[in-house]
Amino acid sequence: VATRSEDLGREPTGRTVAGHPLVLYRTEDGEPVALDDRCAHRGFPLSRSRLVGDNVQCGYHGFTYAPSGVCVQVPAQPDVPGRVRVRSFPAVERRPFVWVWTGDATTADPAEIPDPGWIEEDWAVLTGVLRINGSWHQMHDNLMDLTHLTYLHDGVGGTGRYAETPPDVTTRNGRVRVERRIREDGPGAGWALGLDTAVLRHATTEWRSPALILADVVITPDPPENAPDRSATIRFFHAVTPESPTTLTYHWALARDFMVDNEELTERTLDQTVTAFQQDVEAVEWIHQLRRDFPPAEPAEVNIRVDGAGLRVRRIIADILAEEDADISNSTISNGAPE
Ligand code: FES
Ligand SMILES: [Fe+2]
Repeated sequence: VATRSEDLGREPTGRTVAGHPLVLYRTEDGEPVALDDRCAHRGFPLSRSRLVGDNVQCGYHGFTYAPSGVCVQVPAQPDVPGRVRVRSFPAVERRPFVWVWTGDATTADPAEIPDPGWIEEDWAVLTGVLRINGSWHQMHDNLMDLTHLTYLHDGVGGTGRYAETPPDVTTRNGRVRVERRIREDGPGAGWALGLDTAVLRHATTEWRSPALILADVVITPDPPENAPDRSATIRFFHAVTPESPTTLTYHWALARDFMVDNEELTERTLDQTVTAFQQDVEAVEWIHQLRRDFPPAEPAEVNIRVDGAGLRVRRIIADILAEEDADISNSTISNGAPE
């Protein structure tokens, strides 16, 4: 994910995705465009330039680029040297986000963009974006081990039950799934269902790719006979976009299918979510700072059973990177550097 839809318009906007500084904007028809942010002439940032129709005109000496990246005008001379262009990246909008592919453009397949299936439906949807000075690996660790809800998010929606409920972890087709079934019987446990009853929270986190982790919590009465048809679902969309090894952007969306018109609940959810995610940002940044300033002796970490999911994710990423390395050393031609 390169940006939220709502943050992209007719102003060139700078974003960094997986080591690529990009300029993003919309054409007059609203289509997203992603180009290398560096003008081919002297490297001026196109994100600090201006749009002329569907093209972006460099703010330094006026080289003008079409959405394809081809330079269509060099103001200082009548002709445009044929080779002048900046790299253009496939960009596809799936509201509320815009996705960009920074790998070999010929392998970009929009069908691979995961469809979370609930955004923009009849749910109450919140979105946000956070920039983090830390490692994207740490962000994956954070999202794959929800026992941190009990401690890091104590008082903002954290529940004591996460840490004490061992998860089921399964891996299929390169996806890692963590599931917990948690019984809540404290006062007010059934609030989301409008019931004064104990509930079962079925919490699932699914790591889909290095860029995306989906999670949901389905709340049902426990025992179900109390109200067989009642259920409430909250879904989370966590898009982790590495900028560099030490910075990342975190786009999130949260949606619920119950009390969707309850503005006060939406406000409260936004408050709590922003507070909780700020705590996650701090955790990732504090860990990163310590590691950077005081590199730990080996072994730097201790693993316990609950780290199983996070470790599977690390292994999948290591395999992907090893495959990429093999591809790069095996390839003799390169048409746009493979990532
Ligand atoms: S740097 Fe862009 S036109 Fe010179
Ligand atoms: Fe968290």
